[in-house]
Amino acid sequence: MNYRHAYHAGNFADVFKHIVLRSLVQALQRKETACCYLDTHAGCGMYDLKSDAAQTTQEYQNGIGKLLTAPNPPQLISDYLACIANKKKHPGSPEILRQSLRPQDRLLLCELHSVDYAQLNKNFRTARRVTTFHQDGWQGLKAFLPPHERRGLVLIDPPYEQANELQTAVTHLQTAISRWETGVYALWYPIKFHLPRAAFYRALKKLSRPVLRAELCVLPEDGSVKLAGSGMAIINPPWQVADTLQAILPWLQSALALENQGKWCVTQSEA
Ligand SMILES: C[S@@+](CC[C@H](N)C(=O)[O-])C[C@H]1O[C@@H](n2cnc3c(N)ncnc32)[C@H](O)[C@@H]1O
Repeated sequence: MNYRHAYHAGNFADVFKHIVLRSLVQALQRKETACCYLDTHAGCGMYDLKSDAAQTTQEYQNGIGKLLTAPNPPQLISDYLACIANKKKHPGSPEILRQSLRPQDRLLLCELHSVDYAQLNKNFRTARRVTTFHQDGWQGLKAFLPPHERRGLVLIDPPYEQANELQTAVTHLQTAISRWETGVYALWYPIKFHLPRAAFYRALKKLSRPVLRAELCVLPEDGSVKLAGSGMAIINPPWQVADTLQAILPWLQSALALENQGKWCVTQSEA
């Protein structure tokens, strides 16, 4: 496990993921019934963008750094920016989810890296309705699903350090769905020229559940090894999320584009 999210926190892929995540939570919370949120690859939960790690890469400059100064954000994005403004640390997915918890909801966080887990636990030790687990997130899918609430969301955000991790992720997703068919699942994935996605898309179709794919690229996939963008595969997407994402992604794409390049898409397929 070499991946450390502190080097990448706040980059264009991170803010895309967190904005999509907020749109999912917002849609789920249209109903009063309790939700359980499971973040299988939680990281530290919040990040100091002045740290040596963040300053080494400065990736946040092309992510949250751009968004904070872009004019006229749509409401969902200005709400996201408001929850970041004046915070000492940049929120990761656990903090995004914690901020959205209602009294009836709960949040489960898994992180395997010992150092990052220690930080996660420190950050959320006193948070109400939040439990951290120093454990494999893939095992967490088996341990915690289905939740007794029978409503909620699973965020799956692995580091993709292994060559076949896209396929592995879908295999684990299939297992999770077999335990909890109606849960909402959000799987983040990288978009790189050297990481073909056709087989991944086919595997998503074979899950036999409705799937929404939202993708945002800030660069063309032109053969370079760089991350061109990222996507979120949403299984069992809540009502109206596709419309919400279609409305905000054009603004987000143009705000984050590098040299006016890249693209966005929202693609739906039924079960
Ligand atoms: C992309 S980062 C997560 C970022 C976080 N979701 C966010 O948006 O702020 C991936 C995290 O997964 C952790 N990790 C790697 N393999 C894992 C596993 N099998 N189970 C749980 N965590 C794992 C890494 O240590 C890393 O902190």
